[in-house]
Amino acid sequence: MADLDTLYAHIEEHAADYVEKLREVVAIPSVSSDATLRPKVHEMGLWLQAELERLGAETKLHYPGTHVMDGEELELPPIVLGTYGTDESKKTVLVYGHYDVQPASLSDGWTSDPFTLTELDNGRMVGRGSTDDKGPVLGWLWVVEAHQQLGIDLPVNLKFCFEGMEENGSEGLDEMIVAEADGYFANVDAVCISDNYWLGTSKPCITFGLRGVSAFALTVTGPGWDLHSGVYGGTLHEPMTDLIHLMGTLVKPNGEILIPGIMDNVADLTEEEEALYDVLDFDVSELEAAAGAQTLIHDDKKQTIMHRWRYPSLSLHGIEGAFSGQGVKTVIPAKVMGKFSIRTVPNQTPDEIAEKVKAHLEAEFEKLGSKNTMHVEALHGGKCWVGDLNHPNFKAGTRATEKVYGVTPDFTREGGSIPVTLTFQDALGKSVLLLPMGRADDGAHSINEKLDKSNYLNGIKLLATYLHELAAETDL
Ligand code: BES
Ligand code: MN
Ligand code: MN
Repeated sequence: MADLDTLYAHIEEHAADYVEKLREVVAIPSVSSDATLRPKVHEMGLWLQAELERLGAETKLHYPGTHVMDGEELELPPIVLGTYGTDESKKTVLVYGHYDVQPASLSDGWTSDPFTLTELDNGRMVGRGSTDDKGPVLGWLWVVEAHQQLGIDLPVNLKFCFEGMEENGSEGLDEMIVAEADGYFANVDAVCISDNYWLGTSKPCITFGLRGVSAFALTVTGPGWDLHSGVYGGTLHEPMTDLIHLMGTLVKPNGEILIPGIMDNVADLTEEEEALYDVLDFDVSELEAAAGAQTLIHDDKKQTIMHRWRYPSLSLHGIEGAFSGQGVKTVIPAKVMGKFSIRTVPNQTPDEIAEKVKAHLEAEFEKLGSKNTMHVEALHGGKCWVGDLNHPNFKAGTRATEKVYGVTPDFTREGGSIPVTLTFQDALGKSVLLLPMGRADDGAHSINEKLDKSNYLNGIKLLATYLHELAAETDL
């Protein structure tokens, strides 16, 4: 195996360059769910393509077409594909990441401008996308660059697949992967995704499972337009009253989901699985600190982790069309849309979940005797995924983590979702490893999202080491 210590020293020496590049990309507000920022998402995709070209990769942009958002037809950002190395004697590793980010504005409570990377004394680099997922995406590039600069042969061929719509439904991605399974992706031996986080703040992990997500919009329509509550209150069925009632029938404050049959297909807990929770290095106080609250539902850590990873959960997100301004507005909203989603687990399927949600809400609406109309729509979703921890891909990830961090990683699942994971596993028939760079308290999607500088640098070393360990796997 190549001299990894030289590689590590080189990465440490170039820390300032890597931070500058991260600053450059954080400054491109590639928010995929904001129509006005769509040009920035395209700009970010082209930035990555240019960088891959600079490193000598052969690139291709796949444009999935258009979609309609907020009544506007928008060009979907490119899926950036890159091929680096075509040596048939080497294995080929596919790396996936996303270059779009969640929305962010100073007024949400950020302590610095979200699109200006801000380095704090404690090593935190604060900025939208720093950990989700621009830091890890850049990490792959610096692995290639470091090998070139040192004249060390990269031990594998790389295929890159970077998308710009992950936070907004990954439109067009699955279709492209299925269509290119025997084309662009034909020689892939293993897949690696760095887009999740450690279980805590001090010990690394590798991840073999994700929950799925099924999102819904529940609309109640009544009057032809908004009305004065003094004039009409008490005389007609109000959409908001129906909606609040219906949303209240979905989940109990203790987290229990009230939809009949929802737990039917949840996999039974085996002894083998249960043993995995017992050895986890997990401290609930870290979870509380990262959430900024001491409001956990379960007292013991095992229940907490199981409800995050292996049981479904239902969250109520918001209501479109309801009055939400300051002060009092004595209005009866004419049409309101409640948004909620369910995090799904093996062996639940999106179709089964959508059917049960609809049947439940229709039955509950019927009971109200309301003359309003109700409509339930299943929005974009993603399936859950569990990989095989015993696969050589995971062994390589484990050894790489041990080399860089000097500890055996925790083997974790995640409560969040990366829908493409299962698509890669099924369409390519290859193992997918999740190899995180950031920590539990990075605050993805929240205010003051950060990536610790040490995680960035060690993360680059980790991704590099993983490629060397994978190349050394004989039975892949
Ligand atoms: N990086 C996250 C996935 C993730 C979240 C991993 C939490 C580990 C813990 C990803 O960018 C994301 O936000 N995924 C969405 C997917 C959804 C929009 C289909 C999610 O989980 O909400
Ligand atoms: Mn992500
Ligand atoms: Mn995300």
